[in-house]
Amino acid sequence: MSTVIQNLLAQTRIPVIAAPMFLVSGTDLVVGLCTSGVIGTFPTLNARPQEELPKWLEDIASRLAAYQQAHPEAIVSPFGVNLIVHPSNPRWEGDLEICAEHKVPLYITSLHAPNKVVERVHPYGGIVLHDVTNAKHARKAIEAGVDGLILVASGAGGHAGTMNPIALVNEIRSFYDGPIILSGCISHGKDVLAALALGCDFAYLGTRFIPVQESMAPDAYQSMIIGADATDIIYTPYFTGVPGNYLKPSVIAAGLDLDEVMAAKTGGTVRLSKETKPRAWKDIWGAGQGVGAIEKILPVRELVDQLIAEFDTAKKKLLA
Ligand SMILES: Cc1cc2nc3c(=O)[nH]c(=O)nc-3n(C[C@H](O)[C@H](O)[C@H](O)COP(=O)(O)O)c2cc1C
Repeated sequence: MSTVIQNLLAQTRIPVIAAPMFLVSGTDLVVGLCTSGVIGTFPTLNARPQEELPKWLEDIASRLAAYQQAHPEAIVSPFGVNLIVHPSNPRWEGDLEICAEHKVPLYITSLHAPNKVVERVHPYGGIVLHDVTNAKHARKAIEAGVDGLILVASGAGGHAGTMNPIALVNEIRSFYDGPIILSGCISHGKDVLAALALGCDFAYLGTRFIPVQESMAPDAYQSMIIGADATDIIYTPYFTGVPGNYLKPSVIAAGLDLDEVMAAKTGGTVRLSKETKPRAWKDIWGAGQGVGAIEKILPVRELVDQLIAEFDTAKKKLLA
């Protein structure tokens, strides 16, 4: 097992990373996650304008340190940020500099291979995990020197991949024995165990952490997830130009023509611009196919305790 994974396992109560989610993950959620013993993350773009980012980082670091001081026996997990490494995100290099100055422990990078991120954060011990949906992108990320790969399988919330998780893990494991984190529809403690059984080191949960008291998602969004099942999730490039999974009831509530949205092959001319309403993520809500297993809005600590209990029960059952 790699040193990176050994260190992360020692700092978590269950091998779970809470995925960064645009307009959902804020400071309260990250602090709630890390003080409950799982890795909390947020997209730097949630701290807006950019001047807010140093304040968020200082707030999170000081609250985690205060919690650790008050609870010396507690496992307080490290936190991370997500950087969208792409020319369409003019903030990413500035955000990287701010995060590196604050010595953020963990980076989750998306889209382009994160050579510059690796170069900037490795010298102080920062860890870089890169999102991939196929073997080609995995090879590029490995060449860039990342510390691990996040395999985003089909059915995941947000800009999901299209590959079955078992096929994706097997294909990438055939040439990579470094840290692998599995993403997509992981909603229950037994699903985390299944990811480990597949040969992954950590599980990556997004949608499961939307309906929690500390999330920034509006109440109606959280309730929609509780009421949804996998058939309520649609996969379409209509909203951003890149295929993603969204809650169908939010598309209907926004007054859009569902047939047009479902028929879209690209974002292209039909996609919603920044100026038009309704807006992707803000009015059209993202979620993965794992919604069917989510039944209650909970405080994040209670949810983490529940995941641990489910994980332990599933493990005992298997061993028996
Ligand atoms: C509402 C929403 C917003 C997301 N925003 C981002 C983001 O800003 N950056 C990113 O790398 N991934 C983003 N994701 C993807 C998640 O990080 C993660 O890959 C995914 O949620 C895992 O699948 P699951 O939702 O089925 O657990 C988002 C997902 C959702 C549901």
